[in-house]
Amino acid sequence: MFERLPAPYGLVRYGVAPDHPKLKEPIRVYEGIARNPQFRLLGNVTVGRDVSVDELRAAYHAVLFCSGAETDRRLGIPGEDLPGSHTATEFVGWYNGHPDYRDRQFDLGQEVAVIIGQGNVAIDVCRILAKTVDELKHTDIAQQALDCLAESRIREIHLIGRRGPAQAKFTTKEFRELGELAECDAVVDPADLELNPESRAELEERSGSVAKKNMEVLGGLAGRTSRGVRRRVFLRFRLSPVELRGDGRVAEVVLERNRLEGKPQQQTARGTGQRITQACGLLFRSIGYKGVAIPGVPFDARQGVFPSREGRIVDDAGVLIPGLYASGWIKRGPTGIIGTNRADSLATVTSLLADVASLDTGPKPGADGVGALVSGHGPRVVTFADWLVIDRAEVERGAPKGKPREKFTRLEEMLRLVEPLS
Ligand SMILES: Cc1cc2nc3c(=O)[nH]c(=O)nc-3n(C[C@H](O)[C@H](O)[C@H](O)COP(=O)(O)OP(=O)(O)OC[C@H]3O[C@@H](n4cnc5c(N)ncnc54)[C@H](O)[C@@H]3O)c2cc1C
Ligand SMILES: NC(=O)c1ccc[n+]([C@@H]2O[C@H](COP(=O)([O-])OP(=O)(O)OC[C@H]3O[C@@H](n4cnc5c(N)ncnc54)[C@H](OP(=O)(O)O)[C@@H]3O)[C@@H](O)[C@H]2O)c1
Repeated sequence: MFERLPAPYGLVRYGVAPDHPKLKEPIRVYEGIARNPQFRLLGNVTVGRDVSVDELRAAYHAVLFCSGAETDRRLGIPGEDLPGSHTATEFVGWYNGHPDYRDRQFDLGQEVAVIIGQGNVAIDVCRILAKTVDELKHTDIAQQALDCLAESRIREIHLIGRRGPAQAKFTTKEFRELGELAECDAVVDPADLELNPESRAELEERSGSVAKKNMEVLGGLAGRTSRGVRRRVFLRFRLSPVELRGDGRVAEVVLERNRLEGKPQQQTARGTGQRITQACGLLFRSIGYKGVAIPGVPFDARQGVFPSREGRIVDDAGVLIPGLYASGWIKRGPTGIIGTNRADSLATVTSLLADVASLDTGPKPGADGVGALVSGHGPRVVTFADWLVIDRAEVERGAPKGKPREKFTRLEEMLRLVEPLS
């Protein structure tokens, strides 16, 4: 397994929210797999940079890509890149101690934050902004983020969806948590919960659906009175950002009111031309992730995936490339929970096993060959035994603070533990 960071586990370590430790438990399963003597980790190695896909193909009979979706979709509106406008990816990476985002700055001295998008990532971002330090301090949140959040002056958070409450993508359990925060009230305008006939049909079509349960939670929130606590999160619907404005940094977002068009389950947001302005000192775009190309692998730039059939990678003309496979977000696109990838991996591995007889069966050096090659290129390869040293050190650092671990957020810090840096 090649991994560009010294730490394995992808978004389970660097995406799943720190206050959801149970959802990180799949790591125990992965650890079990990694202890199989036939498994080798080559961490701190970027495929496409430190080792080419051709080199991998020369060393292995089959190569399976599970490189996720590491960048973001864009809104494509004026002002999107003004200072103070960030992607959820940056913020999530920052509070989760991802080395790529360690030094990002978020001006939490602002009072009003806006989050665009209503998926589970948007809910995570909202909850981390809304929670008190006491609610976060015993999690594995990165210390530099906790220190910064401790000084936060955020009072209002607006969670904005382009479609209606029945189309919100968040799952009910995650959403319900917004109504259970110590110092933050969730606010819903009852008028926003009035549904068009198509949305009502959507709810009636599937009893027990997530949308139906979400509507029940929203109904409960709409009836609540304010507790007068420090923060409020406003759930707002049928609004699309059309411009971010500000003098040198974002100060307001122009929103257009939408109506829904289309048949039940296929409704899309259509602008009405009616615009409103929302003050906004900090904005997070949480509208979905996008896969990144790796040189030597066909890439569908529009979808951000490696095109494949049953997990077998195909070229632009749809022709199979023997020995190349994909699984996870780089295969399907950026949706689905951790468990979704399990079934997805099974499907891809089933294809691979079915192909074994037809693959190039000549001898290949495997990790031994590639390990030497990569070391020759420069990076210190992090083995699973090395990772266990880093892992133990993180846990030890966290213990005095009552945290499950204190992550190392810089590559040098991790590499120093496994080898003195020259
Ligand atoms: C913010 C966030 C929170 C989430 N929270 C939850 C949750 O609570 N519960 C849940 O069930 N699901 C959650 N999910 C969804 C879940 O994380 C994904 O379904 C899952 O991680 C996707 O797995 P993957 O293997 O496709 O990608 P990833 O987990 O992203 O793994 C890809 C790995 O490939 C590595 N990589 C990329 N490019 C290269 C390269 N060129 N060379 C070497 N290595 C490379 C990356 O460093 C990374 O480790 C969350 C997702 C996000 C974005
Ligand atoms: N606790 C958990 O289990 C957990 C936590 C985090 C993430 N995840 C999973 O990880 C996956 C990714 O989550 P995600 O939140 O990034 O994606 P998501 O669920 O696809 O949500 C994306 C949101 O962005 C909106 N959006 C997209 N383009 C937009 C645009 N141009 N303008 C305005 N809004 C736009 C979408 O609205 P439309 O619906 O109108 O397209 C949707 O509300 C999901 O499957 C999620 O369930 C799970």
